Amino acid sequence: PAMTPRKIIIDTDPGQDDAVAILLALASPEDIDVLGITCVAGNVPLDLTVRNARIVCELAGKTDVKIFAGCDRPLGRALVTAEHVHGKTGLDGPVLPEPTMPIAEGHAVDFIIDMLREHAPGTVTLCPLGPLTNIATALQKAPDIANRIAKIVLMGGGYFEGGNITPAAEFNIYVDPQAADIVFKSGAPIVVMPLDVTHKALVTTARNDAFRNIGSAVGIAVAQMTEFFERFDKEKYGSEGAPLHDPCVTAYLIRPDLFKGRHINVEIETESELTMGMTVADWWGVTDRAPNATFMGDLEADGFFTLLTERLARL
Ligand code: RIB
Ligand code: CA
Repeated sequence: PAMTPRKIIIDTDPGQDDAVAILLALASPEDIDVLGITCVAGNVPLDLTVRNARIVCELAGKTDVKIFAGCDRPLGRALVTAEHVHGKTGLDGPVLPEPTMPIAEGHAVDFIIDMLREHAPGTVTLCPLGPLTNIATALQKAPDIANRIAKIVLMGGGYFEGGNITPAAEFNIYVDPQAADIVFKSGAPIVVMPLDVTHKALVTTARNDAFRNIGSAVGIAVAQMTEFFERFDKEKYGSEGAPLHDPCVTAYLIRPDLFKGRHINVEIETESELTMGMTVADWWGVTDRAPNATFMGDLEADGFFTLLTERLARL
């Protein structure tokens, strides 16, 4: 029997890679039912992440998606943004029209709480693609939601790959380490897509040509987004293309078999400035700390890009 689509909330700071993750979800109604998109400050300030989420939904022709504004800064630290990676608008690359679709009434945090209370326990999956401020705030405001969450599938952290904003920390976790600590200690089932796996999702020229050759507005815009986005990683890592971080989250919901990882203990550095936001992943089981997350380490990259290209062609 056909699986019923998984109900999800995408929490995001678009960001070119967030945009591709959102497009993949919206292109996959048989697998994913997007209850709403909640925006958070991260790659760029909140007003721009909300604007970009609207632009992406209009690009997908899905203007009925509920988009909420959320937290505009981390729980206890100043906001750090990443215009150097994503450009001034946060969605540099394609030239897309100013959005006209509405912004939903109410705060993103209240939407997350309401959805988790309205739907049966274990039926709503949270998909954070940016700093975890909205998720942590919802958990603090409504502790009862922790055991109603089916799963948290997030992009963040790194172990073998180290960090991308400091030597020790990945951007999403670094921006709001306290929020990450709350989420990782919440008891909710967590699947982590760290740099260890997202750095294997590299948009080579051939893969980007496949996006462009879809020929649609979506395919061309995605090719232009990744062309803009990749220059940061190419300069820094000499990699053969941009790592598509956030689409690993929505691809996992459709084809978990593309990913491999371990159920281990992951704790967050929240004290030392030197290692602030580091995901201390006990990959080798050298501590007796209880496992709290499935930390991904490997990806079948060709299968991932085939899935992504096929689904984007539907829009
Ligand atoms: O470190 C990569 C993460 O930070 C991605 O989610 C990217 O969009 C940025 O938010
Ligand atoms: Ca992101």
